[in-house]
Amino acid sequence: MSIENLVNPHIRNLTPYSPGKPIEEVERELGISGSIKLASNENPLGPSPRALDVLGRAVAGVHRYPDGACFALRDRLAERMNLSADQFIFGSGADEVLEILAKTFLSPGDRVVMPWPSFAMYPLVARGMGAEPISVPLTSEMQHDFPAMAAAVGRGAKMVMLCNPNNPTGTSFGAGALADFVSAISDDVVLVIDEAYFEYVRRADFPDSLALVTERPATVVLRTFSKIFGLAGLRIGYGVSDPELVGFLERARHPFNVNRLAEAAALAALDDDEHASQTRAMNDLGVDYLTQELEGLGYRVWPTDANFVLVETGPGYYDALLRRGVIVRPLVGFGLKNHIRISVGTPDENKILVKALRAIEQGGDVAVGEQS
Ligand SMILES: Cc1ncc(COP(=O)(O)O)c(C=O)c1O
Repeated sequence: MSIENLVNPHIRNLTPYSPGKPIEEVERELGISGSIKLASNENPLGPSPRALDVLGRAVAGVHRYPDGACFALRDRLAERMNLSADQFIFGSGADEVLEILAKTFLSPGDRVVMPWPSFAMYPLVARGMGAEPISVPLTSEMQHDFPAMAAAVGRGAKMVMLCNPNNPTGTSFGAGALADFVSAISDDVVLVIDEAYFEYVRRADFPDSLALVTERPATVVLRTFSKIFGLAGLRIGYGVSDPELVGFLERARHPFNVNRLAEAAALAALDDDEHASQTRAMNDLGVDYLTQELEGLGYRVWPTDANFVLVETGPGYYDALLRRGVIVRPLVGFGLKNHIRISVGTPDENKILVKALRAIEQGGDVAVGEQS
């Protein structure tokens, strides 16, 4: 008997998503301690104190199923964003909303256009449904190549993904570029705009994608509580779209897909404007500090609107930093073997990273044959 032959062929050929290594594992392997992780674009300030406060109380209720509709959170988001409550779909992270979208819209052979390099889940969820990811390379400035993407959509795509700001590059696009793209594609292609890092954006002309949802119903905007709200470990994200489209997504969703603690913490964190603005301020300072210091070391640092920076160091830096107890994200799997992605840390963590890179440059301990 061969298990492999039993497996759905769409799943058999997938490469599992590879998350960064946990700190404890790296320390054990290398026999070091006190290392830092700047690899998963988490909030280095930690969760909102208001979320922590309600979590303490919510824990006592975990013998009950969660509110399957995320009623209170839905209402509060609708109020804050001036939308109607039936425009929201919630998931165990934006990741699950991507999966619900794939399950709802994609059949074997359907084409999904996406920028590349971009978020690793896009090809994974498409392939999981037997659909075909069509990757359109970013421009040399690491921007979405909109003319090439529109042409690819025109060749019979069912869905198109945009990532703004884009992970792993941090680069973003403005309202003009999005408007041109939207007018170049058919209205019956599902347009997904992933704005997981939306709250960190500094550019003034960032698109009003929520307005687009009203103008163009086959549009879905993704947001998450994993980044600025600091709740990555609880798993909660959401999509915003037209009520009719959301109604179909609801059919593909598990009844209790968002856990009770995540719902309670998200509701509290949403109104913690102080925590969000502290996080944003710390991130702005961190981006400016890292950009200046890393450029000073001679690396190319890409402009970022997110909580991480893409840095062209040359090969070998992921391993060299790992040996010094700093975990960053290698990008070999994205075809960027000369680059690393560094999540912005606390001011102290950022200094440790810069110090490690300086030591690497002085010690010349980058082995060029290494993986990344
Ligand atoms: C661009 C992008 N979209 C979606 C996600 C998934 O977020 P979540 O933690 O809500 O599943 C991430 C996570 O890193 C991301 O970078």
